[in-house]
Amino acid sequence: MNQHPIVRTTQQWQAADAAHYLHPFTDFKSLANKGSRIIERADNIYLWDSEGHKILDAMSGLWCVNVGYGQQALIDAATKQMTELPFYNSFFQTANKPAIELAELLAEVSPTQFKHVFFSGSGSEGNDTVVRMVRRYWDVLGQPERTVIISRNNAYHGSTMAGASLGGMRGMHAQGGLPIPGIVHIEQPFWFELGQGTSRDDFGIKAASWLEANIIEIGADKVAAFIGEPVQGAGGVIVPPETYWPEIQRICDQYGVLLVSDEVICGFGRTGHWFGCERFGFRPDLMTFAKGVTSGYIPLGGVMVGERIARVLIDQGGEFNHGYTYSGHPVACAVALANIRLIQREGLVERVHDDLGPYLAEQFAALAGHALVGEVQTCGLMGAVQLVQDKPSAKAFAADLEVGMLCRGHCFANGLIMRAVGDRMIIAPPLVITRAQIDEMMALIHTCLDLTLADAARHGWV
Ligand SMILES: Cc1ncc(COP(=O)(O)O)c(C=O)c1O
Repeated sequence: MNQHPIVRTTQQWQAADAAHYLHPFTDFKSLANKGSRIIERADNIYLWDSEGHKILDAMSGLWCVNVGYGQQALIDAATKQMTELPFYNSFFQTANKPAIELAELLAEVSPTQFKHVFFSGSGSEGNDTVVRMVRRYWDVLGQPERTVIISRNNAYHGSTMAGASLGGMRGMHAQGGLPIPGIVHIEQPFWFELGQGTSRDDFGIKAASWLEANIIEIGADKVAAFIGEPVQGAGGVIVPPETYWPEIQRICDQYGVLLVSDEVICGFGRTGHWFGCERFGFRPDLMTFAKGVTSGYIPLGGVMVGERIARVLIDQGGEFNHGYTYSGHPVACAVALANIRLIQREGLVERVHDDLGPYLAEQFAALAGHALVGEVQTCGLMGAVQLVQDKPSAKAFAADLEVGMLCRGHCFANGLIMRAVGDRMIIAPPLVITRAQIDEMMALIHTCLDLTLADAARHGWV
């Protein structure tokens, strides 16, 4: 084996990539023909590709690099922990210090009902744990038939069998015989698509009432839990009406249904609160987390377990037959500790709440006048721009025109990573972004919208 770094051209990297590497959520053949963009290094909120292009990463990697790239405290924590204890499991009545300390710190930053954590390696695994745990909870309580979990269309809860089943992405269900039994979906609280003609607040109540109708139809004695992302991230940064979550809480309380907040994107400051449930005023029994817990520097996920569930599992549950090799991985936990302490030290949550979130909201409001824009939404440091064909009637472009992808192409070409979910352009930049960098990002977004409008006009679509 050659011990020296391999020096290759971009084309050589792309050829090796195409020859061996199957990427997630990718049309393998089409990417092999086109060639991947090879990302080489990163600092702060910027990436550099193998051609030397500098790119503003307005998606924080994949919604995770909350503290930005190149944070020495996280790098040092990993190095130190790898030297001391790179791995040991937590299965056989053993524990490691970083995992214990992280469990303590997570309990400190989480809402007060959470005093315990179950670690996983990712958000998807965290949601697998949720499915096992809520069913186990009802089983221990002598209600084993209470197994159904209600989720929402267009939700994203990961890509394992349980995660993809909880999620409401039709394309995912179409592959691999999903959803698994016992998971049902209600409609999402997406006002722009489903609520036009009613006020946002009325629509929020209506969208929550679909949960109540479902519980009644299935029978409350069969429903174990409801799961939702406070703001649907991968679904398109869909910020629910303010009335939605309090009404969901009321319904879950009324029928005794467990409430699960998937905080994989919304956790760790993204919404200007430590967790999205605090932003929207609800009190979950379980919270799934991943991504921002380590700012993506190393994989880690888990589930915060509220006292209602923890007490039953601890006091009456006996052995919980579930866990992962990397549950409580010492290096991942050491990095998470450094990451959360950095978020605390730099006051990043408060910064998003008091300064950057409101500033982003102002800048996005200014985009609303653009001829292509039907709606803008922000929540903390997440934002969405809905592209429309006809502004006054909010008429959508035909899906096969792929206007969102066209816009995304302009973003890439102009040094900006912005994601397209259909024709909804979304961002979630690192929480360390400055006002000046938000200005820089907004200027790029304006340029890319103008270029997309010019394309649409040239094709006669507008
Ligand atoms: C809300 C939500 N839950 C779960 C997941 C799955 O996390 P992972 O990709 O770490 O398995 C994601 C990933 O984007 C997510 O956005």
